[in-house]
Amino acid sequence: MRILGIETSCDETGIAIYDEKEGILAHRLYSQIAVHADYGGVVPELASRDHVRKTIPLIKEVLADAKLTAKDLDGVAYTAGPGLVGALLVGCSIGRSLAYGWNLPAVPVHHMEGHLLAPMLEDDVPDFPFVALLVSGGHTMLVRVDGIGQYELLGESVDDAAGEAFDKTAKLLGLDYPGGPALAKMAETGKKGRFKFPRPMTDRPGLDFSFSGLKTFAANTIHKEEMDKQTHADVAYAFQEAVVDTLAIKCKRALLQCELKRLVIAGGVSANTELRAKLEQITAKLGGKVYYPRPEFCTDNGAMIAYAGMQRLKAGVFADLSFKATPRWPLDTLAAI
Ligand SMILES: Nc1ncnc2c1ncn2[C@@H]1O[C@H](COP(=O)(O)OP(=O)(O)OP(=O)(O)O)[C@@H](O)[C@H]1O
Ligand SMILES: [Mg+2]
Repeated sequence: MRILGIETSCDETGIAIYDEKEGILAHRLYSQIAVHADYGGVVPELASRDHVRKTIPLIKEVLADAKLTAKDLDGVAYTAGPGLVGALLVGCSIGRSLAYGWNLPAVPVHHMEGHLLAPMLEDDVPDFPFVALLVSGGHTMLVRVDGIGQYELLGESVDDAAGEAFDKTAKLLGLDYPGGPALAKMAETGKKGRFKFPRPMTDRPGLDFSFSGLKTFAANTIHKEEMDKQTHADVAYAFQEAVVDTLAIKCKRALLQCELKRLVIAGGVSANTELRAKLEQITAKLGGKVYYPRPEFCTDNGAMIAYAGMQRLKAGVFADLSFKATPRWPLDTLAAI
């Protein structure tokens, strides 16, 4: 079976075709970074309009890349939430309409389930059960995963997501949106030990996170210091070290609490090399392993939506003729399949 995946929940139009046996046959991503650059963040209405312009041409290109036509497909999957409602509506209405026109099942997909399952697109896939750390621009969650759709929320951020904290701190350091990767690059020349940032909420039990204080700590540090190039790098280093340490402490706690050894990380921040290295150390010490997607499948993409859609298509879970965008949609309300 083959499925088309459509992702339009935020500022990336991602399209892919996934084949049950052969894996990803083609995928393309159009990023709207340039559209939003002048505003320092995503402007929802501009995002929706750009998805309208890009989605259909990108679908045509991906079909051509895979040397397929609609007749070769068995379903159409699209992100139905969570995300920006206008942006979601574009993908939902195009996905549902194409499925109707092509007489195929339509499969609404939960964006965070897409992120969570993205490591399944790699050669070395984790067996269930495992603990997943979802770290993206809008979410920071620890989830116990017993199977597809069997998600128990262990903890989440009570304020900013880890990616959001990266982006806000990067902005304070004069870096363009989205600043996470640029901050990580800047941190490479930073000196260890010059600044010590807190590890929020690690001194008490539980698996929730809080990252907004780190951004404030960065702002106060920047305010106090003479900000030359080295100081910028030293702040970036200390900030990244604090986020990575905090995430790692909570991941270890979650693995021990669940008595599991397999950890999956996904979402944009899982592309961070320091985070990957730290989590590899921790899981190795516990006799376990960490799994993550290739960097291009850490941030938003159509491949993860096609993959998650295929799992539901195989289980016979489709939408009726209506479609619904769900901007707020807790992951642990999904049905097991
Ligand atoms: N190497 C990196 N280091 C740190 N942060 C990174 C890195 N690469 C990407 N990011 C961050 O990842 C985030 C984007 O990830 P993603 O596309 O998964 O989020 P999103 O789709 O906006 O949010 P959500 O999936 O929660 O709706 C941004 O905040 C970005 O700064
Ligand atoms: Mg995302």
